[in-house]
Amino acid sequence: MNQSDLMEKIISLCKRRGFVYLSSEIYGGLANVYDFGPLGSLLAKNIRDLWIKKMVQERDDIYLIDGSILMHPKAWEASGHTVAFTDPLIQCPVCKKRFRADHLEGWILEKDNQTGEWKILEQGSLTCPDCKGELIPTVKEFNLLMATEVGAVAGEKMKVYLKGESCQNIYLDYLPVRDTMAAQIPFGIGQIGKAFRNEITLGKFLFKVREFEQMDIQYFCAPENADKVYEEWKKIRLNWYLEDIGLSKERLRWRQHTPEERIFYAKDAWDIEYKFFNDFEELEGVHHRSDYDLTQHGKFSGKTLDYFDPQTKKRYVPYIIECSGGLQRTFLSVLAESYREEMVNKDKRVFLKMKPTLAPYKAAVFPLVANKPELTKKAKSVFNVLKPEFMTLWDDIGNIGKRYRRQDEIGTPWCITIDYQTLEDDTVTIRDRDTMKQERIKCSDIVQYIKEKLNNA
Ligand code: GAP
Repeated sequence: MNQSDLMEKIISLCKRRGFVYLSSEIYGGLANVYDFGPLGSLLAKNIRDLWIKKMVQERDDIYLIDGSILMHPKAWEASGHTVAFTDPLIQCPVCKKRFRADHLEGWILEKDNQTGEWKILEQGSLTCPDCKGELIPTVKEFNLLMATEVGAVAGEKMKVYLKGESCQNIYLDYLPVRDTMAAQIPFGIGQIGKAFRNEITLGKFLFKVREFEQMDIQYFCAPENADKVYEEWKKIRLNWYLEDIGLSKERLRWRQHTPEERIFYAKDAWDIEYKFFNDFEELEGVHHRSDYDLTQHGKFSGKTLDYFDPQTKKRYVPYIIECSGGLQRTFLSVLAESYREEMVNKDKRVFLKMKPTLAPYKAAVFPLVANKPELTKKAKSVFNVLKPEFMTLWDDIGNIGKRYRRQDEIGTPWCITIDYQTLEDDTVTIRDRDTMKQERIKCSDIVQYIKEKLNNA
């Protein structure tokens, strides 16, 4: 399938079937801001749940937090974001559209990470990509942080920022987590939290949005162990995308940051990239951040954030290994990976071949026809048994073939039909999304059947 077509098909499916809506669409929408609809909320929740299960529940060295969106403004000074969290911007004088200069053809820029200033190394094309007007080669620094105010009294309001990256309150909570949990290094703090950025690039659907969630682990370790810990986390995180999310090996790769793009304090930085459609693009950053974060917050807050190691009797500022992935990008990767089209009896079948653990609904229950009360009654009793166990849908509209297609398109792994034979022998057909094969099983076995399939998937 042509990859640009695939993106269009996924966007259309997302809207049509309630995965993703443009935010405030009745007012014309808000650019680069999206809502998860009923189906999307469930897929997003399943991704979050799986991340927490694998990264927190199944380990004994990661503590989960859920930090606030608003933080003390000094935190963003300490992190360098108020100065250096900038993109270089060129505005077309004709159509007024803004573009990232470093994304325009032939332009090479270098950022001073201390001051946030951009230096033009090579000036490329001066043709506006949109209206073909002539661009003026003036680059403006554009800060990505979103500001708001706290306080009710005019004149006494304090300017604060919405989190530009979710990890920052992990650094601020490092001390209370360490103390309240009696945590000993090495340990990590995990969080799935919102981040807000005034992104300039438009039209990349969920890939680049202004409000998104980051799934973060910040792992605190002794300086001398950091290189080893870094390699371990690189393996763990790639494996998560392969084994748990179900992305294919061929569409995943590692890319190391070049010395120019690597933030000045990082010892090393690699991104996990996924081939969403045409190109490989960043899914998660796994970065070796040295002791920069805790040193900075220690300096700006005046608190001692160093650690006394009871075993080695050494005192040090912990090094941090960061694994920061995006929920929206993982969501998009699941759709890109799982979208399938095939011809079945001259009809096109669209189905989402995603891991059953991620599927929004695990099962759908159909009475063979809607106008036979005895079938509906029996189907409702099956439905009521399944609902407390799994997200289950009811569908009695149209013929069974159409109902299968509707479920295929949203990735429901198992469809259960209650027919006349059910009334005689208490068995149902259960149909598999991927193979379309049907089996007859006892009503009393359905829950166990699905549980086993989910565990084995
Ligand atoms: N604390 C490190 C950090 O924020 P980042 O590379 O800017 O690093 C980490 O972001 C991850 O967050 C990215 O790999 C990506 O998955 C996601 N992300 C970043 N900006 C995004 C955006 N505008 N829209 C959607 N996801 C985004």
